[in-house]
Amino acid sequence: MTRHFLDLSDAGPDGIAAMLADALDRKAARIGWPKGKADRDAPLAGHVLGMVFEKNSTRTRVSYDMAMRQLGGSSIVLDAGTTQLGRGESIADTARVLSGYCDAIMIRTDDHAKIEEMARYASVPVINGLTDASHPSQIMADLLTIIESGKPLPGLKLAWVGDGNNVLASIVEAAALMQFDVVAACPQGFMPAEIDLARGQGRVRVVAQASEAVAGADVVVTDSWISMGQEHAETKLAALAPYQVDEALMAQAKPDAVFLHCLPAHRGEEVTDGVIDGPQSLIWPEAANRLHAQKSILRWCFGQIG
Ligand code: CP
Ligand code: NVA
Repeated sequence: MTRHFLDLSDAGPDGIAAMLADALDRKAARIGWPKGKADRDAPLAGHVLGMVFEKNSTRTRVSYDMAMRQLGGSSIVLDAGTTQLGRGESIADTARVLSGYCDAIMIRTDDHAKIEEMARYASVPVINGLTDASHPSQIMADLLTIIESGKPLPGLKLAWVGDGNNVLASIVEAAALMQFDVVAACPQGFMPAEIDLARGQGRVRVVAQASEAVAGADVVVTDSWISMGQEHAETKLAALAPYQVDEALMAQAKPDAVFLHCLPAHRGEEVTDGVIDGPQSLIWPEAANRLHAQKSILRWCFGQIG
């Protein structure tokens, strides 16, 4: 059966654990190598990933492209605006066409139903590179970064501060699968959807005060207040203003707590320079880990692990 990675639950706890172990091993095996050199075993030699973008991207685009190169394969970038998708060709038809050229498809889009449709009609693995509903590719890198910081996932307390968005939805899903707890501080009107909270299977609590979320937290996470495709609304910015992660808030987490942000950041809005550039911030290793995490997602999709 074709393996799709539309959300973390597609891989389940065992698949996620296998991917994280694989990412750690492969990362360690190529320390000091030039980035474009293929891994010794080149496990995806001859394979091509088609990458469809209906939204902007820096990290997802480059990390998946480099992931394919390091695994011995290659990728093709398809910006929706310059393809027939942008002129109304259906997702279903695009899925069937790309399946004839590519060995896997990664898509970044708005409506989550579109990647489900892509998976339904594609005969090759489909990977979620972000939708309005979730961002599992990012959260695999976040889990890797947390483990590398010396914090085991089971029993961990993760504080989310800010908008109840797509990145939080995947964190909540990860919490249920990997046995950690999330306390999310979100303002009225910008809390996670019920369906996302349900995926947390009791592992997530939503609170009104940012200080309540970060108290005793091992990891503090935020994201931009305005996601791609959303209006830059003054009302939303005003509602989120008390949810900025600044040095005073960070000081209420555990002394060895780490700070994560998927990037791009809006410094001075959801986070201060002092925190994002401070000693507890792991944002650069987190961004770099996108590459290592994406390699393992690709290998999982091809049935090579998990
Ligand atoms: N974090 C993330 O997905 O970054 P890009 O939007 O640059 O891909
Ligand atoms: N929540 C953000 C994440 C960007 C990587 C967005 O959807 O725009």
